[in-house]
Amino acid sequence: MLASAILTDAVADFAADVRAGLTKPGQKELPSKYLYDTLGSKLFEVISELPEYGLTRADERLLRAHAQEIVHRIAGDIVVCELGSGSGRKTRWILEALSGRRHHTVYFPIEISSSALDVCRRELADIESVGIVGLEREYLDGLLEVAAQRRNRQRIFVLFLGSTIGNFSHPADVNFLREIRRILDPGDALLLGTDLEKSIPDLIDAYDDALGITAAFNKNLLVRINRELDADFELDRFEHVARFNPETRGVEMHLRSTQSQTVTICKAEFSVRFQKGETIWTENSHKYSLPEVSQLVETSGFACTAQWIDQEWPFAESLLTAL
Ligand code: AVI
Repeated sequence: MLASAILTDAVADFAADVRAGLTKPGQKELPSKYLYDTLGSKLFEVISELPEYGLTRADERLLRAHAQEIVHRIAGDIVVCELGSGSGRKTRWILEALSGRRHHTVYFPIEISSSALDVCRRELADIESVGIVGLEREYLDGLLEVAAQRRNRQRIFVLFLGSTIGNFSHPADVNFLREIRRILDPGDALLLGTDLEKSIPDLIDAYDDALGITAAFNKNLLVRINRELDADFELDRFEHVARFNPETRGVEMHLRSTQSQTVTICKAEFSVRFQKGETIWTENSHKYSLPEVSQLVETSGFACTAQWIDQEWPFAESLLTAL
């Protein structure tokens, strides 16, 4: 019997994605969503505390300062739905601002990481008149489920924070926002966080920190493939690389093979050869200009009704209405 016939759906999907990415002609790649297993999610939480990585703090500063105004701009009975909640720490400001409302609020964190969902439920459980219903799903599947459950006249308020949109390479970012728009009704809202352009040395430091936490986050993907797909990646034969791509204006994370080698991934039923210096591209983190944010919003069927920018670490929080 083929190994794939006895794999669970999740493992079979992972095996298929790894096989497709590592046998692709030219640049080898792996989808960045697989960085977030239990350990990867925890490492990302640590990254967001690093002095070099200002993104999460900027996002949180904006939410803390403007949460009242943000929720004030969305009238009526709403359900809140967050795509990729992580620990939910930043979301507290929005939910606390909503907890004074007449209507009880239901908050749906949508996450592929069950451990992150557990943390999120625990962290936010004390907020009065807010119910938490975690959905362990891909983003759009979770959003479809929320939309199917909405009651008459209830509005959906989607949170897509932390510049996760920047991890979708262009034009996948526009396509993803269009998909969100297709699921929503006119008048529904989306709060979109986008990391803005900044100096290249600052960006490289942010994605290649002195403590090596981002390197561990990146290499953990190989650990995960070894564990879940029975592979034989040797960690000390790969190194973390962060580089700025001036054409796409994104920071790319790669894993560079330090020698010629062959790796076997048993559950995906293939072996792959690496040349010395060859890389696996594991993530793109696009840095937006403000006109680009406007264009992204307009071409995906939303209107921007308000925008806040952090001065310390250029980052924009944009409140959008579905047209
Ligand atoms: C989740 N995402 C927005 C992060 C980013 O900055 O692109 C992921 C990350 N990768 C390395 N450091 C942080």
